[in-house]
Amino acid sequence: MPGFEFIGKEEQDAVNDVFDRGGVLYRYGWDDRRQHVYRVDDFEKAFANKFGVKYALGLSSGTTALKVALKSLDVKPGDEVITQSHTFIATVEAIIEVGAKPVITEVNKTLNMDPKDLRDKITERTKVIIPVHMSGVAAQMKEILAVANEYNVSVLEDNAQSCGGEYTGIKLGAMGEVGIFSFDFGKVMTTGEGGMLITNDEAIFKKAREYSDHGHELNPDFPRGEDTRSRSGFNYKMMELQGAIGLAQLKKLDYIIERQRENKAKIEEGIKDNPGIEFREIPNPEGEIGDTLTFFLENREKAKKFVEIWSKKGLGTKNLPDAINWHFAGTWDHIFSQYDEYKDKDLTNVWQQSNAILRRAIAIPILAKMDESQIDKIVNAVNECLPRI
Ligand SMILES: Cc1ncc(COP(=O)(O)O)c(C=O)c1O
Repeated sequence: MPGFEFIGKEEQDAVNDVFDRGGVLYRYGWDDRRQHVYRVDDFEKAFANKFGVKYALGLSSGTTALKVALKSLDVKPGDEVITQSHTFIATVEAIIEVGAKPVITEVNKTLNMDPKDLRDKITERTKVIIPVHMSGVAAQMKEILAVANEYNVSVLEDNAQSCGGEYTGIKLGAMGEVGIFSFDFGKVMTTGEGGMLITNDEAIFKKAREYSDHGHELNPDFPRGEDTRSRSGFNYKMMELQGAIGLAQLKKLDYIIERQRENKAKIEEGIKDNPGIEFREIPNPEGEIGDTLTFFLENREKAKKFVEIWSKKGLGTKNLPDAINWHFAGTWDHIFSQYDEYKDKDLTNVWQQSNAILRRAIAIPILAKMDESQIDKIVNAVNECLPRI
């Protein structure tokens, strides 16, 4: 969660440097005025290097990165794109934005895509599967990639929420054909708004770059004003200030994750002996980033009661349950009512398994800069709340 905790001198110096070198805020051109320094370009190179991929493309947000990724995978109206019931609404918005139909799987106790349900949801129209690595924890990628390979369907990893996480030693986002990241202000590293797309596939990268820049092919034989193009696009480019800040934040990523993991482990140790507490299942214990500590209570009523007492102590949760309406497809009537099969249906009953799991989940946000007294406060508060519900 805490890129914002580390916005400081390094980021400010990086921004000042852009101004000191002529104040070119645009990623292309003005070569002499900017002294041939290109921050978005530098950020992309550093990001690709850190994530062990050939290509990285800086974009204006995680949401636009999702759209650009779907475009680069040639998703068209009439295609189906599968994602999971527990995600931020942006994943589904991007699918709709490219004219495809969102098909939603249940989540299991990993709070990510249920691979069994994924298999049931595949049809001959399925073009892409989007597993989402929610709140620091990997989806079950081994099982998901096996289904994708069996049916010859592309995988786009929505890694907006688990930047820096790993699964079987591979960075999340680098396991599918394409992966995306968000650098909005709540993310583990932040540029205020911003996103990144990564891939090892040159053709996907080129399509993504062209689509996000009005179709520009960056043809080296022509100046930008006479650049060639073969398909239409849009404008989702990242700007230089985001590139400069992103470079500074990327240098802090490992440290942030280390601190989060430590703090999460301390809180977990302090509350684990409570009877009836059941922790979220983690498929990548070595590689999770410690973004939240999530546990399930016996039923929805107990979870509600817990939060009542918890908030009276001045403490908060992260998305579950406070912002569940933005993170559970079962509450998105405004989106699904356009499809005949969901019309007039109670959506919570459509994804019953997810509803049952999500409604008993409590997600405690973890900060990197928590000190011992803050950690003790949370541990003591959980230990006091649980016996009272
Ligand atoms: C899972 C997920 N996907 C996509 C996004 C969209 O990212 P952005 O806010 O950068 O548009 C978010 C942002 O919260 C997210 O959590």
